[in-house]
Amino acid sequence: MSDTFTLPTRVITEEKPFKVLFVCLGNICRSPTAEGLMQHLVNEAGLQNYFEIDSAGTSAWHAGEPANSKTRSVAASHGVRIRSRARQIDPRDLDDFDLLVAMDDENYQNLMALASTGVQRARICRMRDFDPNPEDGQVPDPYFGGLHGFENVYQIVKRSCEHLLKALQPQLIKKA
Ligand code: 4NP
Repeated sequence: MSDTFTLPTRVITEEKPFKVLFVCLGNICRSPTAEGLMQHLVNEAGLQNYFEIDSAGTSAWHAGEPANSKTRSVAASHGVRIRSRARQIDPRDLDDFDLLVAMDDENYQNLMALASTGVQRARICRMRDFDPNPEDGQVPDPYFGGLHGFENVYQIVKRSCEHLLKALQPQLIKKA
């Protein structure tokens, strides 16, 4: 796990769920994978009422489209359903979400450029900040390649989301 990013600390309750926005370029490959997987992990842990998960793209190129067919079929082969429709990031997302998770350095820089306050900047991180094996720190863009790249994205994002969810557990105050 990266030692350069510290998760925003606040109690997570049913009344005030923790809101996570995953961000990539097109919002049809990487961030929908992260959204679908994180929602799946949250559901498996019975924590649906404690988290709100969404995704967005820095571009509007694919706005309104469902996730890429390879993205959906790789996820489905692992039992994960991806239902997202692409949308472009809105500057208000920087106030609305507790955590904005960029897939690569370009997405990260674009999010940072949208932020105007220290509080907003402190909410922006990279997906591989949570990966115990972060390699070069990027979730590689699979869009122009074959199925193997989509499977690679799935595995990176799965490992990273599992560790992100684990890192947030101490902030949970569960209803008795
Ligand atoms: P994503 O992948 O950012 O993971 O959704 C891409 C999707 C579309 C394009 C590039 C990357 N594109 O050039 O249209």
